[in-house]
Amino acid sequence: MKRTIVAMPGDGIGRVVLEEAMRVIEAAGFDANYVEGDIGWEFWCKEGDPLPQRTIDLIEKHKIGLFGAITSKPKDEAFDELSPELKDKGLVYASPIVRLRQHFGLDICMRPCRSYKGNPLNFIRRGQNGTIDEPQIDAVIFRQNTEGLYGGVEWSHPEGIVLEALKSHPRFEKNFGHVPPEEISVSTRIFTKNATERILRSAFNYAKENGYKSVTVCEKPNVIRETSGMMYKMAQDIQRADFPDIQLWNTNIDAQMMWLTKNPEDYGIIVAGNMFGDIVSDGFAGLIGGLGFASSAQMNPESGVAVFEPTHGSAPKYADYDVSIVNPIAMIESACAMLEFIHEKDTAQKIRRAVAEVIAEGKVRTYEMMKFSGKPDVIEKGAVSTQQMADAIISKL
Ligand code: NAI
Ligand code: MG
Repeated sequence: MKRTIVAMPGDGIGRVVLEEAMRVIEAAGFDANYVEGDIGWEFWCKEGDPLPQRTIDLIEKHKIGLFGAITSKPKDEAFDELSPELKDKGLVYASPIVRLRQHFGLDICMRPCRSYKGNPLNFIRRGQNGTIDEPQIDAVIFRQNTEGLYGGVEWSHPEGIVLEALKSHPRFEKNFGHVPPEEISVSTRIFTKNATERILRSAFNYAKENGYKSVTVCEKPNVIRETSGMMYKMAQDIQRADFPDIQLWNTNIDAQMMWLTKNPEDYGIIVAGNMFGDIVSDGFAGLIGGLGFASSAQMNPESGVAVFEPTHGSAPKYADYDVSIVNPIAMIESACAMLEFIHEKDTAQKIRRAVAEVIAEGKVRTYEMMKFSGKPDVIEKGAVSTQQMADAIISKL
């Protein structure tokens, strides 16, 4: 049966890279129906809703989404651009992609960071006698996507029962009891057992299915005892009971950020809460070429709903170029993650091999791979366009 994919181009370069990724997966032999899901700035301005209900319904029905990127703007600017007849309706802009994650409980975020040989943006280090080492990086970060420090439970100037509750903690009295409440802001870091178990099991399962030798919990359990501590303890229990052949490593986020610039090739699967997962995945993405290469998958394994997207945004300054210069590989990699999720692993492998060949040959490079700053003249200077990069990948298929 042909799969139906909800294609959500969104705004700016999201529209360009999604089209190229669809061209690549089609050329690789993946035959799907696509329905377009409306999302982004245009729908905020015209309808007062950047994520219309009809798009939610489409995802509900077809389960799999490919998403480009959206533009978000500050509250006041968002209001100014709203269509005049909507201005008195009390509408407030909220990021549609954050809403999408929450609505469908896409709590598993997976960010693969694999270096391609020959990418001039790869991390290198000095070896002995001045030689240059270029380690092969193959890390996949599993980030809890809905809780923790991004859970939104926050107060400035806590009062009433909130203040009472804080005061009931002996450490609060000791460290902050002398501070006037109006000078205090609090952001909570809530971890639940259910969500923590889901992200841990996703990481271990992926390690097992894909032959990784280790899972690293990257938190800070020695200091943040309750949340990080709970995650590490649960990881130990899960590993002992169900994944005895996979090693469990424990690193602290701060030390991890140093180690990833020393021996990044040692790490396989990394799992962390929301904020530390965000940090460590950006860190690893930087080692393999940055935004043009960083892909992500957001999944709810129970309902089977999943949305795949590059981690970059809509890059508005490049959106209206006559010839698009941005790198489509992050979007193409995201499409590969989608193919893996729907059990089209061979097709995903085929595409990754084609990307690898193009990069290894070194003849076809987008502007950032040539270390140019992004301007229309990069094409004259030898960089390829977004379409030409996709064409080169397709020619290898
Ligand atoms: P951005 O990721 O759109 O762009 C930052 C810079 O990264 C660009 O100016 C460009 O130099 C480079 N870049 C991005 N994608 C690239 C690619 N494929 N190839 C080569 N270079 C690339 O982030 P920015 O400028 O902070 O945000 C622009 C808009 O995107 C904002 O409205 C922001 O809210 C939104 N955004 C949306 C996201 C999403 O849809 N998930 C994520 C991040 C930002
Ligand atoms: Mg981030």
